[in-house]
Formats: sequence, structure tokens, C-alpha cells
Amino acid sequence: MPRDNLDSPVRIGSVTLPGRVVAAPMAGVSDLPFRELARELGAAMVCTEMVSAEALVRRSGRTRALMRYAEGERPVSMQLFGGRPAVMAEAARVLCDHGVDLIDINMGCPVRKVVKSGAGAALMREPTQAAAVVAAVVAAADRPVTVKMRAGWDATSMNAVAVARACEQAGAAAVCVHARTRGDGFGPQRRYDVVAAVKAALTIPVIGNGGIDSPAAAMHVLAECACDAVMVGRAALGNPWIFAAIRAALRGAAPPVVTLGARRQALLRHLARAVEVHGEQLAVRRMRKHLAWYLHGLRDGHRVKEALQRLDSAAEVAAAVARYFDRLATVEATSGCAAVEVGE
Ligand SMILES: Cc1cc2nc3c(=O)[nH]c(=O)nc-3n(C[C@H](O)[C@H](O)[C@H](O)COP(=O)(O)O)c2cc1C
Repeated sequence: MPRDNLDSPVRIGSVTLPGRVVAAPMAGVSDLPFRELARELGAAMVCTEMVSAEALVRRSGRTRALMRYAEGERPVSMQLFGGRPAVMAEAARVLCDHGVDLIDINMGCPVRKVVKSGAGAALMREPTQAAAVVAAVVAAADRPVTVKMRAGWDATSMNAVAVARACEQAGAAAVCVHARTRGDGFGPQRRYDVVAAVKAALTIPVIGNGGIDSPAAAMHVLAECACDAVMVGRAALGNPWIFAAIRAALRGAAPPVVTLGARRQALLRHLARAVEVHGEQLAVRRMRKHLAWYLHGLRDGHRVKEALQRLDSAAEVAAAVARYFDRLATVEATSGCAAVEVGE
């Protein structure tokens, strides 16, 4: 791959992503405020939390809330989970009417309840059913359909290549391979050889995912797997700047410096947007984990995190965050020591 081409656009069917680093869908995390921030800070594409096709066709209010998106997010990728082709097709039609740009099918979720219903990672054990689901969604949707899968069900059945081929033949426009089996959960295993094998077997774009937690890791996966793009999940929690850092590395540039001021601003904007989107009570609850992630590795971060978990109003949280960052700035200015990455 030519060096100057590494931060290039990626075409997925009729949609062009502006770069090669995308944000992972994460239930309970990748809501509208998180996605907006990730997109703004350099992710070439973001994806919604998974949405149940069954609930969507029943018009569940909670599912409708998960479907909210903003124009600034485009291209909007919305993820469906379900195991019944007809229901998935009906849900896909609803998503098209809703204006999404891509539909992603979840074949990786390890959660027992999801798997028991024949959805998520269960589809890895049923390649024919997986292909039937993809074919039904492709027939129903006049826009690109992608699939996010695992390396396999477990170490004895690493069939991502076969499932990915079946998905491609059924009309998928791209696949993302999480380099772990369902049995691996979210552990340290990184089966990049499987991602590479899928890439070698397909003609559609392949996105590598799993354990990409730094620009070096992203470069390694892109080189080792020859994949078209990488997807970052947990490493973006509290660190949405990772997308820009990886994109800088792809261009051979130094990562952007994330100042205390930038952290403070991102955190407070994330909080304010969460209040707009979810209402104050839910926003403050949802933001507790984000606050902990943002403050990870900051001086005295653990103490402040604990205090923040007890606050119930957004104004109190914002004031406490502002006070904390003021204190950090003073410490930095007077001691000359960085307040970031001091360890905890
Ligand atoms: C809290 C959490 C929620 C997740 N929710 C989803 C989901 O809704 N859909 C999905 O396809 N993957 C989901 N995943 C998996 C991630 O998209 C990603 O594949 C996985 O975390 C591996 O990437 P990472 O090692 O960069 O975190 C979730 C992961 C986490 C940690």
C-alpha cells in the first residue's frame, strides 16, 4: 500500500467514507451524543447501538429513541439484530424510510438472550440462515447493507471466511470482522489472521476490529490484514481523540495534542448534548460511565470520579468538572507537571 494513500476514502457500495477509521457500535454507549463527538473528532463513520428488528417492527418507543440520529453524523449506519429474515426485511424498510445511509446486521453479539433468539453471534453457527437474513435485508433496502461478525462461534469453529463469503454472495456491501470468537468474549485474544483470511477471500471491503487501542495497533492491523478500514471500540471510551490520532499516523503525522482545555470542553459538551437528547435524569445516569472514562489517567481522577457518581443534577456535574479542571490547570501551571497520564 502506498504510504500517502493510507488515510484515503473507502467506498462501501454507494457510500464513500472519508477515511479508514470508524467507530464501533456499542450498546449503552454509542448514543447520539457519543457518535456526534466521535464523528466530529475524526471517525469516518459511526454506528448506532444495536436495534432489535422485532422491537422495531412492533414500533417500541424505546427502540424509536435508539434510532435518533443527527444530520452531522452522515453517513448514518444503523445496526439491526434479529434472526428472522422477514422481520429483518421489514425493519430494514423502516430504517430506509427513516433516512439512514447504511444498514448493518449484527452477527457478533454474544449476549445469551440475543443468541437464544437466533440473532447476533448465533448466526455464525448458521451460515445459511445468516445468508438468508442478509439477502432479505438487501432485497428490502435500496442502500448498502453491511455485516458485523465475529471470527467464529468458538475456537473450534472459526468460520468467518465461510460466513463472510455467504454474506458477500447474498449482497452485503462490506463486512466487519471482530477478531474474536463468541467464546473469546471481549478478552485479550486478537485473531487478526482470521481478518486477513476474510479480506483475502472477499472482493467487498473488509473492516478489521478488536483490540485496536492505539495508532500503532491500527497500523499493524491495516498492514497485517490488508483490510480496508479499522473499527475502534473500547479505546474510544473517554478518548474520542483516538480517531484523529490514528488518522494522523496514517498520514505519517504526529498525533494531535489533547490539551486539558480540549478534554474539559469535550466532556462538558458531551454532558450538555446528553441532557438535550436524553433529558437530565437519564443523561446524568448515562454520563457517569463516560465521566469515569474521560477522567481515567488524570491526576486525582479516581477521587473526582467517585464524587461525580453521587451527583444527580447536570449543573452540579458540570460545576464539579469545571472546578476539577481549573484545579488541574493550576497544578500544571505551577508545578510544570502534566496532569494527564499520571497513572492511578
Ligand atoms: C459496551 C459494549 C457494547 C457493545 N455493543 C455492541 C453492539 O450493539 N453491536 C455490535 O455489533 N457490537 C457491540 N459491541 C462490540 C464492539 O462493537 C466491538 O466489536 C468490540 O468491543 C471489539 O472492539 P474493541 O476491542 O475495539 O473494543 C459492544 C462492545 C462493548 C464493549
